[in-house]
Amino acid sequence: MSATPLCQALPSVLAALRAQTGQMHSGLEKRMPFFSARLDLSLYTRLIQAYYGFYQPLEAALLGCAWLPAGLDLGERLKVPTLLRDLQALAVDQPHRLALCTRLPAIDSPASVLGVLYVLEGATLGGQVLRREMHARLGLDEHSGAAFLDVYGRDTGRRWKAYLSLLDEQPTDAQFLQAAALAAESTFACFEQWLDCQEILS
Ligand code: HEM
Repeated sequence: MSATPLCQALPSVLAALRAQTGQMHSGLEKRMPFFSARLDLSLYTRLIQAYYGFYQPLEAALLGCAWLPAGLDLGERLKVPTLLRDLQALAVDQPHRLALCTRLPAIDSPASVLGVLYVLEGATLGGQVLRREMHARLGLDEHSGAAFLDVYGRDTGRRWKAYLSLLDEQPTDAQFLQAAALAAESTFACFEQWLDCQEILS
């Protein structure tokens, strides 16, 4: 008979984030319009508008919060400037007047910042695939409205690893893990709900 450990090791922050959100990622990925037959330039433009409507207030909240981890240069990770560039290339007038999402994940602790960032940074990892698809389907590239999809370009791997190193430096007590995982889950949920409201998803 094998002995039952009295105290099981806690997962790492990354493992907790993945466990909490893995299924949400698969679900959302399937509903995004990138590979859908109904995708055309008009739907793509609405998609980038919706990304802007979510990222703009969320990045503003991160910038204004008191819990950014030391060693994180949020300035080099902001994606709104690239979204604005894409919107301009897609001939969207007055992007500053676009609808903004008001139901955002709570940012109220260092753990919640890392959970939100997990989603925003992880979302850059599928970029190359999406960029290639949008080029093949709509003829778009980084100059004509698809820069956001591969926002870090060659730096994608390096920036992801730097974020993971930051995670490694965090406490691994149950309270921290839970707060980070719940913030990541809430970010996925808020984003999906926002895209639904904007009638972007399948
Ligand atoms: C059709 C759309 C999408 C595709 C094709 C896609 C694809 C991918 C790919 C290929 C990876 C890397 C997996 C790996 O290297 O192990 C990834 C990771 C990730 N994606 Fe997506 N993705 C999509 C949409 C999104 C969206 C909309 C979000 C969130 C807003 C998101 C959040 C993440 C996160 C957090 C990770 C990191 C997972 C981890 O390694 O822990 N993805 N995605």
